[in-house]
Amino acid sequence: MDWDAFFTVHKDLPREGPGTQDDVDWACGLADLAPDAVICDAGAGPGGDVSALLAHVPRGRVVAVEKVPGFVRQGQTRFADTPRVSFEEGDMAALADHAQAPFDLIWCAGALYFLGLEAGIAAMAKALKAGGVLAFSEPCFFVDSPSPAARAFWDGYPAQTPETLSKMLQDAGFAVLGQRALPDDSWEAYFRPMERRIAELRTTQSERLEPMLEACAAEADAWRAVRRETGYLLSVARLG
Ligand SMILES: C[S@@+](CC[C@H](N)C(=O)[O-])C[C@H]1O[C@@H](n2cnc3c(N)ncnc32)[C@H](O)[C@@H]1O
Repeated sequence: MDWDAFFTVHKDLPREGPGTQDDVDWACGLADLAPDAVICDAGAGPGGDVSALLAHVPRGRVVAVEKVPGFVRQGQTRFADTPRVSFEEGDMAALADHAQAPFDLIWCAGALYFLGLEAGIAAMAKALKAGGVLAFSEPCFFVDSPSPAARAFWDGYPAQTPETLSKMLQDAGFAVLGQRALPDDSWEAYFRPMERRIAELRTTQSERLEPMLEACAAEADAWRAVRRETGYLLSVARLG
């Protein structure tokens, strides 16, 4: 990975994966949080969901944990004047050891699979209070026989189905409160700002950047071609 090129495209984008405030509101509605609840945004990227999460805990806190220093700096700048938010560099695999753990809600948008799904669910369970809630989005197929293009979109990663994800959560001691596919708007909220950045860079940058611009543009095109067959499933589940 050419990280310089990656950050030239991704620097200061509002978010690093699909999602909107509506997704946060839906999940927090199911979680039924106390006003002083403590939420962890695990794999927060640049903090695109933090304000929406904070609005659900008017006397609580959001602890954003992210491992890439560039995103952490962006998040820290963004929330420098918001005392109820802390934005920290860290590894979400070790959330159970965090000073603010156990959490009332762990929100993990498009990031749990970095730990491996089963290991990720187990790590989050250890970092939640009894009765705490995990909300996460995960690659999923929405049709019985996904096309080769839909399978290729995840580049070998084993996408789930709603049923297999539910079972995995139940086996890990969770009760599933709800599941829904992220709508197209959520994906476009990630892709459109990135595509605007790509268009700007094409007019100003050297050819060295072109492979990265092409790869980022291709991700958006590939998703639009398969969006009826696959995407992210947002699952909300309470630890028993
Ligand atoms: C697809 S991005 C989503 C970011 C953000 N949740 C959003 O929706 O904009 C996944 C994020 O997870 C972060 N990440 C991956 N593994 C991590 C780990 N072990 N601990 C903390 N963050 C991690 C990545 O650096 C990346 O910012």
